[in-house]
Amino acid sequence: MKIKKAIIPAAGLGTRVLPASKSIPKEMLNIVDKPAIQYIVEEAVAAGIEEILIITNRGKGAMEDHFDHSFELEANLRNNPSKQKIYEDVLKPVNLANIYFIRQKETKGLADAIYRAKGFVGNEPFAILYGDDVIVNQGGQPVIGQLIDAYEKYGKGVVGVKEVPRKDVSKYCSLDVTPIENNVMQCHNIIEKPTEDQIISCYSILGRVVMPPEIFDIIKDTPVNPVGKEVYFTDSMVTLAKTYGLNAIDFVGTRFDMGNKLGIMKANCEMALCHEEIGDDFKEYIKQLAKTL
Ligand code: UTP
Repeated sequence: MKIKKAIIPAAGLGTRVLPASKSIPKEMLNIVDKPAIQYIVEEAVAAGIEEILIITNRGKGAMEDHFDHSFELEANLRNNPSKQKIYEDVLKPVNLANIYFIRQKETKGLADAIYRAKGFVGNEPFAILYGDDVIVNQGGQPVIGQLIDAYEKYGKGVVGVKEVPRKDVSKYCSLDVTPIENNVMQCHNIIEKPTEDQIISCYSILGRVVMPPEIFDIIKDTPVNPVGKEVYFTDSMVTLAKTYGLNAIDFVGTRFDMGNKLGIMKANCEMALCHEEIGDDFKEYIKQLAKTL
């Protein structure tokens, strides 16, 4: 079955980027001239996704406005011959896909946020793109498309993984995997935020997942994790791995963590360097700046 639906959990509190995210959702923080969430929606659309549900929270209405018309602004730009390119850029997010919104009324973790999408998803496999992970693969296949292909080939849930430096594995998770072919592996177990002696491999899940609809019943039956005092999506995926099966794909792409300050700066720096309008000037600026460091 062709995967046409995606969800973007974007209801987190964004505490690691406060105070920037106090009145602006962290998903609306810009990378050069577009908010992070637009990159994520564009990735999904480029992979053939047609319907997108964004899971939001109180105070995150700016995301809804971004994907809607802004009539006064558009009329102003439309009537100004020198601003036609800007007019097209402003219209782009409006016409990308059918975008829906639902609120996660209490911030009870990623699994709870995903469970809000049960009615939207129905009985189909679907993609999940974490709202604070921007992943680019310039000129290549979008990362969520790589996962969708693997789902369609093997008929099992897929997690997008990368090897992260060993000192960072404890911030993410550690996967127990065995190779299947090329960059596809079978995932047997996942340890959330492992201590040094719990690390099985340096493969961690980074922001992209494709799930079968059975995951909703699994989430419903997953007990609250005693450490985090909430249902961990990782615990649900472990059950999926041990029942229906789960694959991992070492994706091709660069991931920027927009949930922390350094990630935001790296994203802006790298995307500015290849930006058609400011790329050359920015490169020159960086070269000069580097000489002073
Ligand atoms: P994070 O844990 O990175 O987001 O969740 P956060 O809670 O905003 O982070 P900090 O620690 O407070 O800075 C990963 C993804 O899951 C979403 C987040 O928006 C992010 O995209 N999320 C998390 C929800 O949608 N709901 C939640 O209750 C928690």
